[in-house]
Amino acid sequence: MAMAKLVLVLAFFFIQSLTTSLTLPLQATATKSFVSPIQKDRSTLQYIITAYLQTPLRQAKLLVDLGASFTWVNCDDKYFHSTTYKHIPCDYPLADLLGQPACLVNCVDPPGPNCANNSCLLSPVNPIKPIDFTRSDPIATALLDYLALPELINGSSQVGPLEKIRNFIFSCGHTSYLKGLARGVVGLAGFGRSNISIPVQITPHFFAICLSGSKSQPGVAFFGSKGPYYFSPGIDLSSSLTYTPLIVNPVGKDSGPDNKIASPEYYIELTSVKVNNKVVQFNQSLLAITSENGFGGTTISTVAPYTKLESSIYKAVTRAFLKAAASSTYNLTKTTTKPVKPFGVCYPASDIKITKMGPVVPTIDLVLHNKDVVWKIFGSNSMVRIVKKGGVDVWCLAFVDGGARTTVRDSTWIGSPSVVIGGHQLEDNMLQFDLESKKLGFSSSILSKGTTCSNFKFSTKKI
Ligand SMILES: *[C@@H]1O[C@H](CO)[C@@H](O)[C@H](O)[C@H]1NC(C)=O
Ligand SMILES: *[C@@H]1O[C@H](CO)[C@@H](O)[C@H](O)[C@H]1NC(C)=O
Ligand SMILES: *[C@@H]1O[C@H](CO)[C@@H](O)[C@H](O)[C@H]1NC(C)=O
Ligand SMILES: *[C@@H]1O[C@H](CO)[C@@H](O)[C@H](O)[C@H]1NC(C)=O
Ligand SMILES: *[C@@H]1O[C@H](CO)[C@@H](O)[C@H](O)[C@H]1NC(C)=O
Repeated sequence: MAMAKLVLVLAFFFIQSLTTSLTLPLQATATKSFVSPIQKDRSTLQYIITAYLQTPLRQAKLLVDLGASFTWVNCDDKYFHSTTYKHIPCDYPLADLLGQPACLVNCVDPPGPNCANNSCLLSPVNPIKPIDFTRSDPIATALLDYLALPELINGSSQVGPLEKIRNFIFSCGHTSYLKGLARGVVGLAGFGRSNISIPVQITPHFFAICLSGSKSQPGVAFFGSKGPYYFSPGIDLSSSLTYTPLIVNPVGKDSGPDNKIASPEYYIELTSVKVNNKVVQFNQSLLAITSENGFGGTTISTVAPYTKLESSIYKAVTRAFLKAAASSTYNLTKTTTKPVKPFGVCYPASDIKITKMGPVVPTIDLVLHNKDVVWKIFGSNSMVRIVKKGGVDVWCLAFVDGGARTTVRDSTWIGSPSVVIGGHQLEDNMLQFDLESKKLGFSSSILSKGTTCSNFKFSTKKI
């Protein structure tokens, strides 16, 4: 039944560029900045942002994905009832922004958010559980509708009321696309490198995220603000940032053999890893991006709960960590019982000393484009506490083996990154994406500044 509407879909329908200049509907808001809470979901470890969509405005909890080029929302009846949505006609100049969208030429079902003639399609991606388009309705149209977020006001010191943004572009998914996503989530927020990501559509040049590790207190996303970013007690984290270039992988997962499409993920130039100030030896060429097939390099991901290292890097780093932890400074011996999956190295909690920077363990340094630009990882970000039935109480090194050099899912030739910096390592770190100057500002752990990502004060008013 769901397929009935699929009468004619032209894949890779090439849009004739009209001479009309592209007018993005968003200039009106370009000087404003916005803010929104990001909550970690207890059971899935996913990071969920709260936004508002539709008319009347309706709360939408969306999975934060730094590697997704656009946003999608469940448009099935139970959730979507907007009176203001619009389709994007396939020959409309705005379609250019979508790349090379397929076109739904003729839809025979009753008109609705997911059914209109001559309308652009966008194919949603679920990074947690890939969508099986042979069993789910494959038609997902691109829509324009209102998006609303709280405005950041009064010199970034306060959260104001919800402010509507017109003509926000997103794709209209289905309930079946939500598999694997946290309870209550109705879609995905695309923060990736693209001209239709959430941050680019709202306020083109800057966004920043500060993920909270707390399961009850949210962290925060800032849109359009270069700072200040105030966290109690009155600390402006924009002054604690160190910068490294954001680089582009020219061969992303959507590439074809004759049609290379840059990756929507943000890559940074990791040049070496140090454990306790000593460089870890491994094959350095894994850290470079191979321009023919996109293999290698280092990305930042909010959908990987823990940093993933290519197997040989993982082995070298864990070996160096075990050795440094065993030295007299730390005097740590790993648990003799099996480590807790997916981790390889754990220590009895009773052996570990805790300071404000978390467990006292060897520091792990990510040395970036220049030897003096270092992302420092202390115990609070390198270790995770696991308490389980049967008396298991351990701290484990929160890095996982990403497998040997592999291809990305669904491709035989496109390579995956060698290092994916994951959520646990991003928590209580301020990250600013400067899309204008193509650089990433990072703070390393803000615990050293006496604050946390959950210390951003959302107003007590309901937002
Ligand atoms: C938007 O991005 C797509 C895909 O990367 C690209 O093909 C298109 O040319 C871009 N449009 C504009 C106006 O930049
Ligand atoms: C699409 O066009 C066909 C032919 O004109 C028409 O029968 C159909 O109802 C239209 N579909 C929608 C959703 O308007
Ligand atoms: C703006 O912030 C300042 C300093 O925090 C405060 O004194 C003032 O009352 C605020 N203004 C408004 C309109 O809330
Ligand atoms: C290092 O890795 C690259 C890419 O996988 C491979 O081509 C090369 O042979 C490796 N070098 C060594 C010394 O293992
Ligand atoms: C190191 O730890 C072991 C057991 O955990 C203990 O017996 C030993 O005294 C410790 N050594 C130092 C130098 O603290």
